[in-house]
Amino acid sequence: MSKWASLVAGCALLLAAPAFAQSAKPRNYGIGTPATPQQIAGWDIDVRPDGEGLPPGKGSVKDGEKLFLERCAACHGEFGESAGRWPQLAQGKGTLATNDPVKTVGSYFPYASSVFDYVRRAMPFGDAQSLTNDELYAVVAFVLNLNDIVDDKFVLSKETWNQVKMPNADGFYNDDRETAEKAFWNKNPCMKDCRAPVKITGHASVIDVTPDDKTARKGGVE
Ligand code: HEC
Repeated sequence: MSKWASLVAGCALLLAAPAFAQSAKPRNYGIGTPATPQQIAGWDIDVRPDGEGLPPGKGSVKDGEKLFLERCAACHGEFGESAGRWPQLAQGKGTLATNDPVKTVGSYFPYASSVFDYVRRAMPFGDAQSLTNDELYAVVAFVLNLNDIVDDKFVLSKETWNQVKMPNADGFYNDDRETAEKAFWNKNPCMKDCRAPVKITGHASVIDVTPDDKTARKGGVE
């Protein structure tokens, strides 16, 4: 092959490289292994407000009460009122717009799935994901009952999911600033010299707040 021919061949190879990178062939970085369906299932535990993603199982308020006393009350209090400074899970209705809002499952959480998902993922604190599906349904049913959302005969499951009506479900709404705050929005916002020239009326050094050689303490900590 002549010198030119090999140069042309080399260029062709370089040109071909990006096409190869974009091909469907998986890149091998030499680390890790593909996640197995079982591993993915372990992470894929989210539940949507409409109940999509709920595991099989069911649990009653009654069974949940026993569990709650054993596994949750030490921190959250027997009635969800909180023990010490752990989060409160019940009461607080009507406080959201006050200076001291108490955000609980009853006063704040918009969806039953928020409670279910949270407990399923993270509770009991320090022993997360140790509850069976039935225990999970039961303890969530009890927390709902503590908030007067379901009665004490209620059994929570995929089938009864839609009967749960969260008190603050309407307290959340889609971001409507584009219409609600339209008046504040300027299509061509000022990006340069937006304020009138600034007039300096005084300097911090005048009131002597910045220590200098004369005013600094001598000899370090007194
Ligand atoms: C060792 C103490 C402890 C135990 C036991 C415990 N929790 Fe919690 N719980 C916490 C803490 C701490 C948080 C807040 C965590 C955070 O904000 O990151 C929390 C948060 C929660 C929340 C969300 C509260 C909110 O308003 O954001 C729920 C619901 C909840 N726990 C339910 C339970 C249930 C049900 C059990 C029993 C199965 C349980 N917890 C057991 C400490 C505990």
